[in-house]
This record gives sequence, C-alpha cells and structure tokens, in this order.
Amino acid sequence: MSDHPWWQSAVVYQIYPRSFCDTNGDGIGDLEGIRKRLDHLVWLGVDAIWISPFFRSPMKDFGYDVSDYCDVDPLFGTLDDFDRLLAEAHSRGLRVLIDWVPNHTSDQHAWFQEARASRESAKRDWYVWRDGDASTPPNNWRAAFTNGPAWTWDEQTAQWYLHLFLSEQPDLNWQSPAVVAAMHDTLRFWLARGIDGFRMDVIHCIGKDPKLPDAPEAVAKIPYCAQNDHESTHDLLRGIRSVLDEFDGDRVMVGEVYLFDTARVARYYGNTAKGDELHLSFNFPPLYAAWDAGAWRAQIDRAVAEHDPIAAWPTWVLSNHDNKRHRTRYGSEARARAAAVLLLGLRGTPFLYAGEELGLEDAVVPEDRVVDPGGRDGCRAPIPWQPGEGRGWAEGDAWLPWPPNADRKSVAAQRDDPDAIVHLYRRLLAARRASPALQRGSFEWLATDDSALVWQRRLADDLRIVAVNFSGKEVEVETPGSHRIALSTHRDAEGSSFSGRLAPDQAVVLEPSA
Ligand code: NOJ
Ligand code: CA
Repeated sequence: MSDHPWWQSAVVYQIYPRSFCDTNGDGIGDLEGIRKRLDHLVWLGVDAIWISPFFRSPMKDFGYDVSDYCDVDPLFGTLDDFDRLLAEAHSRGLRVLIDWVPNHTSDQHAWFQEARASRESAKRDWYVWRDGDASTPPNNWRAAFTNGPAWTWDEQTAQWYLHLFLSEQPDLNWQSPAVVAAMHDTLRFWLARGIDGFRMDVIHCIGKDPKLPDAPEAVAKIPYCAQNDHESTHDLLRGIRSVLDEFDGDRVMVGEVYLFDTARVARYYGNTAKGDELHLSFNFPPLYAAWDAGAWRAQIDRAVAEHDPIAAWPTWVLSNHDNKRHRTRYGSEARARAAAVLLLGLRGTPFLYAGEELGLEDAVVPEDRVVDPGGRDGCRAPIPWQPGEGRGWAEGDAWLPWPPNADRKSVAAQRDDPDAIVHLYRRLLAARRASPALQRGSFEWLATDDSALVWQRRLADDLRIVAVNFSGKEVEVETPGSHRIALSTHRDAEGSSFSGRLAPDQAVVLEPSA
C-alpha cells in the first residue's frame, strides 16, 4: 500500500476523443484510436488518461449533451471497445478517468423526452420548469455560448425550461431525489466496469437556489455558469462522493469548478480533514494568466494560500478543449517549453491536454469549417501521428483542419528528434517519477523577480529546485548551495553544474550536487 492516493503523484493526460485518432475512416477519432495509441502514452510517461465524453449524444456540444449515460455513441465504438480499451490501459499501468456530465442532459435523452411530454409527466420535475408568459424569461440568467437567456419556452406545455448551456442541453433538477438516484446509478455503471474515476463537468452548477433569483447585477451580463454557484451543491457532492466510496481502489473525482475565485474553488474539496467532496478541483485562473513572472507568482501564491495544505491537493492546467492552447497564447515554442517545466514543477496534480506534448498550436479554422457553438474548434484540431497523407488517421478527411506544421510536429517526426518538445515532456515526466519531492514535496519560494521564479520542493531528504525564466533575456538567479542541472528546456545544459544563469526562456530542474 502506498502512503498517498495515486492521483496526488499522477500526471493526467486529457484525450478529446474526436480529435485523437480515427480508425474507421469517418474522420472522427474513436475508442479504437485511443487503444491503438496507448503505447505512445506509456512511452511519454503519463499515469492516467481522462477521456472527454464518448456517450450517446446528438453532438450539439460534441458529446457534452448526453442522451444515454450508460452507452457508447456508435461514432466512437461500442461498450466492448470501451472495455477493451480499459483493460489494455490497465495492463499498461495507465488509469482511466471518464467525463461525467451531471448538470444537464441532451434534449434527446429519454428522461427529457418524457418530462417534456406533459406537465403531468412522472419525470416533469427531473428538469427545471417555470410558468410565465412566452416573452419574459423567469430570471436574468444567461446561457453559455449564446449569452442569451438560459430559458427556452416550450410551446406544447406552455412553460419555460432552464438550460445553462444550449437549449438542447436542459438542466437536470438535482433537488429531485429521483434525479439524484438515477445519476448515482450512472456513476455505479462505470465504476463497476472498473474505471478509476471521473472528471465532472461544471459540477459547481448542479445545486441551484430553489427560488431561482436573478444573478447579481455585477455578473448578470455573463453566462450564469461562469460566476455562480449555490451552497446546496456541497451536499450533493458529499452524496456523489459516497457513491465512489462504495467501490474500492481509490476512485477519484476531479471537478470542473468554473469559478474565478480560488478560495471558492478550494471549498469544493469539502470540510473534513480528509476532504469529503471533490478529491481534486480544477483551478482555472492560472490558465488565463499571461506568460509573466509576476502574474504567475500571484497565481501560485493564491493557490498556496487558498488550498488547505492537507485536505485540498491543488491541480494545474495550461490547456484543454475549451480554450486556446498555451502554445498559441504564449506565442512561441520556447515559452511553451518553459511552461512545461513550470506546470510539472509545481505542487499539485498536473493535467496535460493531448497535443501539448507536441507543442501543437491551435488550427486556423476557416469560417466555413467552424462547427462548435462556442467557437472552440482551433484547440480541437486532430493530433498528427506521422507526416504525410492522413497523418496516421484512417483514410478520409479529419473533422477539423490540421494544426500548423502538422508534419513536422507529428508524433513520429518528433520521436526521431531528441531535441523535439515531446522529448522534453518525456524527460520531465521521468524526472517527476524519479523524485518524491517533485511529485509530492513541499513548496517554497527561493527567489522571484520580474523575470524569473525559483522555488524549492522537498520531501524528506529528496530536494529539487525549479527555476523558470519568463523573459527573453539572460537572467541571474540565486540558489543556495551547488547544483547540477537534472533537466533543462535546453537539452545540452543537462548534466552540467548550474552557474546561476538562465538563458532566454530557459527553465531547469536542479538537484543538489553530491
Ligand atoms: C464544460 C466543458 O468542458 C465544455 O466543453 C462544455 O461545452 C460545457 N461544460 C457544457 O457541458
Ligand atoms: Ca472514427
């Protein structure tokens, strides 16, 4: 038995299944495509994968509109394909998280179909309905994507229903015990199949004030889900946590808490010494921080200050399927390399987004190929596995354009080039595995200024120092004692003793010289 849960020392790799690898020629990645590429992830050295939704769905929000929580959409394969993928991942030592979407279903879900059929439907209260007149929505809440009203008028039954996202994504009513029970069963369905845990979509929104009051004026002009939460969610989370606890083996729940106040995010770990809500919570403010030493210092200080040192283990993320990739935001591969050292050198569980290990930029998506209602197509470009025709995908056009320089950045091309960014990620992941201090150690600033951040990680007698130059000029940093460069964004520096100077955009991991 390990002395800590696996997810504290793990690095999780997010797979957006549509974009990972297609095996049947429809241009859309599938579960078989993930299975075929598992060896790349083992070579890379990640510990777990999180697969974005692959459940039955009309794909209005590309899978985040679920019409059956307990089946695989034929586009992605079958339940047997999933079982095979899970078994093969486990046999390689990779854990598997899946994406659970509890706030809303698809309007095509049998539950909503039944609910909407009549006001007397036994499932009517599984969703959120309000009386009113057809021209005035019940409150000022806005939906994501459209930024219009979060309400749609249902002609047939002459009531409004609530949707924090598209009108095709009606919100479930978590005040109904029947909804709670049915959703708990969807968790059990996958837990019993052997998955290692869930990423939980907009989890902070499942509890709502039963009175559905207007959002405060200050935040009334932005989507409700981006600023608001309600106390009742915490109780619901304790209930969800107890379902995971029915199963052995350290199953984990990591929640998407899309709030921009780290203190509020941290509350979702729960109250007791061990935490009784989420095991992990995404903290998104750093994802929106500029590539700037001061901005990052502030983000790190906030995370350290707001997370309970024992009950709330932080997370770090630079890219995902909803935002511009950091390689694109930060503007150069040199910075993306330094950012990788930052991400994997902090205290907490890092989440990588497929393709960031290749330094992929967002695709440039011409207007006639935009398909996402939120305009997030660029970061969802397909992963190039090899140079040339098809790029390792089955024959046929991929659903989105390829990212820039797809041949040169493909997995195969980079694996042949020891200086490529994919090898930096691999060395970083190996360095973390080799060091308890990097995986779980304490965090302490050693030096910070406008250009560079330097911190120390320590666990028992294992010690590492991480130094990141955010600037495009050479800088001097102070590190007590003498050190060897265990890892560097600039490979030729590795193994030499550290002089105290960082080249432009250089980031290093140091270990004490013997
Ligand atoms: C957050 C997900 O990450 C995003 O992709 C999705 O559109 C919304 N939740 C709605 O489910
Ligand atoms: Ca396919």
